[in-house]
Amino acid sequence: MDLAYNRLSLQEPQLLKGKKALIRVDFNVPIKDGKILDDTRIKGAIPTLKFLHERGCSIVILSHMGRPKGKVVEELRLNPVAKRLEELMEIPVKKIDVCIGKEAQEAKKNISSGEILLLENTRFYIEETHNISSFARELANDVDFFVQDAFGCVHRAHASVEGVTHFLPSMMGFLVEKEFEALKNVFIERKKPLTLIVGGAKIGTKIGVIENFLPIADNILIGGGIANTFFNAKGYDVKDSLVELDQAQLAQHILQEAGEESCRIVLPKDIIVAKEISETAETRIVHRKNGEILNDGEKILDIGPESIALFQEILAESETIIWNGPVGLFEFSPFAKGTEALGKAIEKNPNKTIVGGGDSVDAIHRFGLKESGFSHISTGGGAMLEFLEGKMLPGISSLRANVEL
Ligand code: 3PG
Repeated sequence: MDLAYNRLSLQEPQLLKGKKALIRVDFNVPIKDGKILDDTRIKGAIPTLKFLHERGCSIVILSHMGRPKGKVVEELRLNPVAKRLEELMEIPVKKIDVCIGKEAQEAKKNISSGEILLLENTRFYIEETHNISSFARELANDVDFFVQDAFGCVHRAHASVEGVTHFLPSMMGFLVEKEFEALKNVFIERKKPLTLIVGGAKIGTKIGVIENFLPIADNILIGGGIANTFFNAKGYDVKDSLVELDQAQLAQHILQEAGEESCRIVLPKDIIVAKEISETAETRIVHRKNGEILNDGEKILDIGPESIALFQEILAESETIIWNGPVGLFEFSPFAKGTEALGKAIEKNPNKTIVGGGDSVDAIHRFGLKESGFSHISTGGGAMLEFLEGKMLPGISSLRANVEL
């Protein structure tokens, strides 16, 4: 075990008793009309919260939700999260509408042993993402130590993730420790062939990831909106599809580099297209490789059956699979087949299979795949991939082992 970082699991129980813990979690869960659609991330923090609760700590929780850019956005309040947390912990959770100021200070001072206080969405304050020290200091006031359990955010140098560690003894919670160990080990002991599947809509961020995997992966299977950018780079007209035109050069460069690294970039041969995005949308298959083209007004929304078969074949032969992002707009059943088929193929593979990113985890649940069919389901998308790229993650590197509780 890498002991360079402070860990909650290594703390003596008597040192924790009666202390106030500030814990950063990643409760950035999907919510629709006030209802939580997937509570995996909340469940992920329960072992750490229970551990602290059972040792008589009072607990102050910090989390962000969405990207409100420093403004209060009613739909991004953490109230539904507080309710769900209360059910899972089976104890009352006090939630307040602020993170700093008199009310927060009073609330922090007044919680007693075993109680939980949830502060408001940290990103309602612009100081959070700018990592402003005075804001971090206020968050760190009136508590004894800091626990980092927001694995999904450890790649963000934000005030509640990194800033607070300058003011408090800081350590990994159980979730971060579990992710850290699982990903580190798979990365170090990775078996070949290694296949990375990259999908989803966050095109700009993932092109960088693909580039970083070129020397590591044997195959990179590309789907979702990202594939469209590659099609465009190859001169294929994607009509009304989601595409980042300014990334075309980079995509071309990646295709070239892949050849030099002997990494196979596999783009869908055939695609599912439709003019509208709905449950009743009329779809058709376009065999891109056979020179078929999209009509005006059509969008690419999933991979086609030939591509599914090819991807399945590659996955069956892979000893390590890393899956980040769905290959189609799977929230709508006409465009769900590709993601479902790949999810099933990965579930069936008995080797190392790692899944990360909120959308891929949603897909696992939506298609009723067994969590036990995957070696590791990460609660972090961007964080997981940056970790595997070997990048420095501020939320982890700040947990210095030389700071005593
Ligand atoms: C995530 O959903 O990946 C984490 O909660 C981090 O969110 P962010 O990408 O908005 O920083």
